[in-house]
Amino acid sequence: MKPPPTPSLLLWAALAPPALAGLRFPCSTLTFQRLDPAGQPGSNPSAHVHHIVGGDAFNATMEGDVGERATCTTCQMAEDFSNYWTATLYFRHPVNGSYHRVPVMPVLPLLHGSDGAQGGLTVYYTQFDLMRDNLARQPIKAFPPGFRMVVGNPAADKKVHAGLSYQCMTERSRGRITNEMPDKPCPGGIFTTHHFPACWDGKSLDSPDHQSHMYNTVVSEGFTNAPPCPPSHPVRVPQVAFETVWDTREFNKMWPEGAPNPFVWSFEVEGDQGGHGYGTHADYLFGWKGDSLQRAMDRSECFYDGCGTLAKQPMEVANRCTVPDMVGEETEGWLPYLPGQGPMIKKKK
Ligand SMILES: *[C@@H]1O[C@H](CO)[C@@H](O)[C@H](O)[C@H]1NC(C)=O
Ligand SMILES: *[C@@H]1O[C@H](CO)[C@@H](O)[C@H](O)[C@H]1NC(C)=O
Repeated sequence: MKPPPTPSLLLWAALAPPALAGLRFPCSTLTFQRLDPAGQPGSNPSAHVHHIVGGDAFNATMEGDVGERATCTTCQMAEDFSNYWTATLYFRHPVNGSYHRVPVMPVLPLLHGSDGAQGGLTVYYTQFDLMRDNLARQPIKAFPPGFRMVVGNPAADKKVHAGLSYQCMTERSRGRITNEMPDKPCPGGIFTTHHFPACWDGKSLDSPDHQSHMYNTVVSEGFTNAPPCPPSHPVRVPQVAFETVWDTREFNKMWPEGAPNPFVWSFEVEGDQGGHGYGTHADYLFGWKGDSLQRAMDRSECFYDGCGTLAKQPMEVANRCTVPDMVGEETEGWLPYLPGQGPMIKKKK
């Protein structure tokens, strides 16, 4: 199936003014597994299945300097061995109740059509908003080795954070931004966005809830500049965001008209019983090599596809980066229940 185009994105790319700073790049899918080294470090399996991209140091526990330890990455930025992950979307068959994982497709069109990414998600590190930098007025500090953070909460029963949103894609556009999972079939798939907070306490690599070392000052959706950071969290870090496209198209015809939304996150029964999708959340584990992210944030040379001193790799190289299956669980095909919500179904060897 050919992914649908999104002309609105092409339009803004063409209109973008020249003084730009920020990173935007594709990362192919690394793995789908029940592991969560930021939210549930040390647990194998973790509570629910994740869609994970980035470096091959990914594991149930990740300490120390990941950028030094990893040997490859599924991201286009060759020095970025970070891991980025979200829950996984599943389809619950409205008649027989079986579950099937929803495939992921690259976010299109990045310039050059995501350059051959396989599945995956698009990562942004912005300094101000989508179009400008603020280097002169507000320095941006890159994350230190070992840093991780979580945004959103699988148990949420209302919107908890600006920047966690859905769009019901048609063949021609992304559709309007909503707080809730779409309640009707989306002919172009479901587009999800996860924006992280941009204010850091300046000390903690993590916190007990994996969130309180960070502070969010952004109150609206989309790529807007973060208002000033509070004294408790004085250090301005890059604004990290992910975009993912869930290819719901093969399931849409199995959604009877008027029936409730059959697309559920992999954590469904843990919280959010209403099927609204308020429990959408994302995880970030920093792993840029050396000072590469700081260099990118210190200059205006780096905007999206044009990026001076940062090393990029062809996506066919990125696509060869893998990690082993560390859980041994079946997450594919039709399943009688979501992984983690019954006895583990072992993957057939
Ligand atoms: C993951 O961590 C375990 C426990 O430390 C280790 O034995 C294993 O080799 C690691 N796997 C990878 C792929 O690094
Ligand atoms: C449910 O329906 C799907 C799609 O027709 C089918 O492939 C799957 O085997 C069914 N599950 C059960 C338990 O019958």
